[in-house]
Amino acid sequence: MRICFVCLGNICRSPTAEGVMRKLVSDAGLEGKITIDSAGTGSWHVGELPDPRTRRAAEARGLSLTHRARQFIAADFDRFDYVIAMDRSNLRQLRVMAGERNAPIVRLLRSYDPDGSSDDEVPDPYSGGSDGFEHVLDLCERACEGLLADVRARL
Ligand code: 4NP
Repeated sequence: MRICFVCLGNICRSPTAEGVMRKLVSDAGLEGKITIDSAGTGSWHVGELPDPRTRRAAEARGLSLTHRARQFIAADFDRFDYVIAMDRSNLRQLRVMAGERNAPIVRLLRSYDPDGSSDDEVPDPYSGGSDGFEHVLDLCERACEGLLADVRARL
């Protein structure tokens, strides 16, 4: 199973979700069966490491984020089984990009959050304070557990 998390810049939310999911998959001994990536709908930060605030918050929870930002491209729909958006704007853009393609599962991350509803978002922390980055981690941790359960059921 191949999963790609998608946000706007690919330097805050989607690399966080990628790091959280990598840890869950590794703890479950499923590294050989599930591959994980992330991308942004925008291109401003291509090639960059995650935002220093994102990396700091993740490191405090034992996650080392080394992903380099890249832009999501239409061909990615052929490479992934799950394309998981952080907010509704990302989801809209992905659906436009998918067009008539036979797209994989394209859903909001928080639709897998047992405490969320189907259109809840992971809010963009980029312009806010440090608690926004903690909140992103909390949301990703909860929703990725639900996502992993869904993936396991399809393995
Ligand atoms: P992300 O956060 O989508 O979670 O990576 C953002 C990063 C950069 C920008 C916006 C959101 N930006 O406008 O540069």
